[in-house]
Amino acid sequence: MMADMGVIGLGVMGAALARNLIDHDTKIIGFEPVGDTTALKRAGDIPMADSLGEMLHDLSRPRVILMMVTAGAPVDAMINQIQPQLAPGDIIIDGGNSHFLDSQRRAENLSIGGLLFMGLGVSGGEAGARFGPAMMAGGAAEAVQLIQSLLLPIAAKSADGSPCFDHFGPAPAGHFVKMLHNAIEYGEMQLLAEIYGLAKYAGGQGNGDIADLFAGWSTATYGGYLVDVSAGVLRQADDQTDRDLIDQIAPIAGQKGTGRWAITAALDLGQAVPSLAAAVFARSLTARAGSQTLPGPVGLADPLTPEQLYGAFALAKLATYEQGFQVLNAAAESYDWPLDLPAVARVWRAGCILRGPLLETLARRVKNGVTQIFDASDFKDLSHLRRLLASASASGISVPVLAASLSYVEGLSSDRPTAQLIQGQRDAFGAHGFERRDQAGVFHGQWSPIEGA
Ligand code: 6PG
Repeated sequence: MMADMGVIGLGVMGAALARNLIDHDTKIIGFEPVGDTTALKRAGDIPMADSLGEMLHDLSRPRVILMMVTAGAPVDAMINQIQPQLAPGDIIIDGGNSHFLDSQRRAENLSIGGLLFMGLGVSGGEAGARFGPAMMAGGAAEAVQLIQSLLLPIAAKSADGSPCFDHFGPAPAGHFVKMLHNAIEYGEMQLLAEIYGLAKYAGGQGNGDIADLFAGWSTATYGGYLVDVSAGVLRQADDQTDRDLIDQIAPIAGQKGTGRWAITAALDLGQAVPSLAAAVFARSLTARAGSQTLPGPVGLADPLTPEQLYGAFALAKLATYEQGFQVLNAAAESYDWPLDLPAVARVWRAGCILRGPLLETLARRVKNGVTQIFDASDFKDLSHLRRLLASASASGISVPVLAASLSYVEGLSSDRPTAQLIQGQRDAFGAHGFERRDQAGVFHGQWSPIEGA
């Protein structure tokens, strides 16, 4: 019998997705391009072809090929190898974390030969891929129609039973949505790290206390998977010493690029994403941490209560998500994608790293074309976030995403603007012009000569 889908790349994610597909009665044939013995062992029970040609031969038409290879050059290399052996109507799905512009280029190139290309963002790590990932698809409607009967059954299901799979527009749109998922992921992870730092260094709390704090938020609106992961990491014992593992992990954060790509895309789209950017910068800065000796930190005489910490986290987390949705909204408008923002929130409700109760709220709150997701009631936590920033400054704890989120929220306020000075400066030295509050039009000041340097 012919196979329904070929899976190229049986690494951690590829093998887990293949098994998930097999569990849902999809006939799979795998191929491991680098002949990696670990991957082949991992493939185990997955039927494997010895060559690309054999895999392609064993696939029913049109052939559906899921590539789970490392993003970047390996994807192009594999496409170049496979393309001459495919026929019009065959579909290549890239399920890696590819850059959305690469997906656009690949789709355009492949379409010349009548091949269909789909960029598929897959979230949830190995467990998600194995038992239910969230999937963000981009590609021609024709290709999505053909493969969704294979992907819908393996997707995570939200509480209302709907599968966490959706189609967000042409080929680059799926990877674009996944890129913003990751940027928000970076933001939330950094927020949790900052609260850990504040509780540990200024509050004098132990790992177990901080784990309890996070565990207490687990099912609250702003809890969710990353909060649970953080509690679990803080409770883990080291298997080589008698210490907690967290205290043995070198404090240098890694990153593979999706967060950084999201910031670049946001800048290109003219969007303000201070919290998302601060999270990327914070990771980069960890490479230089320890290069200076500073006084402090100072323990706080009056540490924040768990309620204050939760309130501050809640507002900062919402600010981070709002920035992500702003970028998605701007991309939909600027690239003319039919990218449905409420559908993004729905897809993120289960399976992915961002999953948690907040996504249920956002699925109801997010609107297409509406540029903010705050509700007036969210600002009840503003006093907690302000208080947290004051405490962090007083005790010398670096909290870049909490700070950026507070400044973002304060920047949305209309009653304490400062851009009038920017406009005055621009006009005073460069005659750039400004608008007035009391009259329409563009004006110039009759600036007195600037004295001094
Ligand atoms: C997921 C994750 C995953 C992602 C890394 C980010 O949704 O399953 O977002 O796909 O690539 O978590 O990795 P770095 O922190 O190494 O950049």
